[in-house]
Amino acid sequence: AEQKATNITWHEANVVQTDREQLLNQKGCVIWFTGLSGSGKSTLALEVESKLYQRGHLTYVLDGDNVRHGLNKNLGFSPEDREENIRRIGEVAKLFADAGVIGMTAFISPYRTDRDNARDLLDEGRFVEVFVDCPLEVCEARDTKGLYKKARAGEIKEFTGISAPYEAPAQPELTVNTSDQSLEECTANVIALLESKGLIP
Ligand code: PPS
Repeated sequence: AEQKATNITWHEANVVQTDREQLLNQKGCVIWFTGLSGSGKSTLALEVESKLYQRGHLTYVLDGDNVRHGLNKNLGFSPEDREENIRRIGEVAKLFADAGVIGMTAFISPYRTDRDNARDLLDEGRFVEVFVDCPLEVCEARDTKGLYKKARAGEIKEFTGISAPYEAPAQPELTVNTSDQSLEECTANVIALLESKGLIP
């Protein structure tokens, strides 16, 4: 998108990311969960957050509820709106990482290009893509919000997996399969990844 503002200058801060990171004993980063509706993105992100909190880490989870009701309430589910949704979330997540926080995002984010654009906003190693893999049949059987039923009945158009695409990540840092791994196991795998990447001690 074109830059509309002119006559704006970038202010250098006195306190920078590394200072905040020393304070927090962690690296500011983004854990980007992607997967179908009902795959378990939010559940997993919140469980990872609980575990990190117990270990004394500062985190923040961005998900549909706190973003599509506020910052992105003017956006729907057309490809263009999903792109803009993910673009804004990527920028917000980048701010959390700069703040030294372990930011976690739980959005379907169905387009590979949009996720890659979010990745490109972060410094190398600070964007961790987690594919929350779960067969459509299982998500549909769970149908926690009754949306698949509505989508099948044609009451919701452009529903991901039914009438809109989902592009699985080609090279995610981690894939968890919520249909045959327990929540505990998936959570442990995410935490182990953060340790192995040196994002937490
Ligand atoms: S996206 O594609 O990343 O912009 O979507 P996201 O912001 O994560 O929002 C997905 C949640 O919105 C509900 N919902 C829909 N999902 C997919 N397609 C359509 N058409 C749609 N309409 C509403 C749905 O509850 C998703 O919630 P999750 O948490 O993913 O199950």
